[in-house]
Amino acid sequence: MIIRELNNHEKPPMDLLLLADPSIKIVEGYLARGNCYIAEVDHKMIGVYVLLSTRPETVEIVNVAVAEEYQGKGLGKQLVLDAIQKARASGYKTIEIGTGNSSIPQLALYQKCGFRITGIDHDFFVKHYSDEIYENGIQCRDMIRLSQNL
Ligand code: COA
Repeated sequence: MIIRELNNHEKPPMDLLLLADPSIKIVEGYLARGNCYIAEVDHKMIGVYVLLSTRPETVEIVNVAVAEEYQGKGLGKQLVLDAIQKARASGYKTIEIGTGNSSIPQLALYQKCGFRITGIDHDFFVKHYSDEIYENGIQCRDMIRLSQNL
């Protein structure tokens, strides 16, 4: 698998990006403001993440996703670790990520990659998404914020 930045002339992999966030409007906002990285196997895009500069010296990983048929093979972890490495190499001091209270595998993955929980944005998903989201039998209401020093 190779991970590289998406070129300006390439179309972002919306199918993958929407796996991580059902809102096209929010995804398009991230793409406009951030840098999109893709993972390829045999020239096929199978993974994605976007790095978004949020505050001085702080960057956030948004929209990390792996194509369904490639999930559970360690590629998501490789993407998150790659994002951390790129952020560090670019001179950022803090990297952040957020996920839903119902996103149990994602909370496990991010903590395994060194992130610590720093806060909860209560009712984030209720306020910003028109449809109710359920995962693992739990309503996704709150954004769990995680961070690590670089
Ligand atoms: N308890 C403990 N660990 C768990 C777990 C659980 N319930 N569920 C997953 N994990 C661990 C795995 O064991 C693995 O850790 P390990 O390498 O130490 O064994 C790690 O989490 C992730 O595994 P990996 O195979 O790298 O993940 P993946 O390739 O399936 O990618 C996602 C993870 C989240 C990117 C992928 O599932 C995806 O694209 N999901 C849809 C989009 C999405 O939800 N994006 C995130 C939005 S916040």
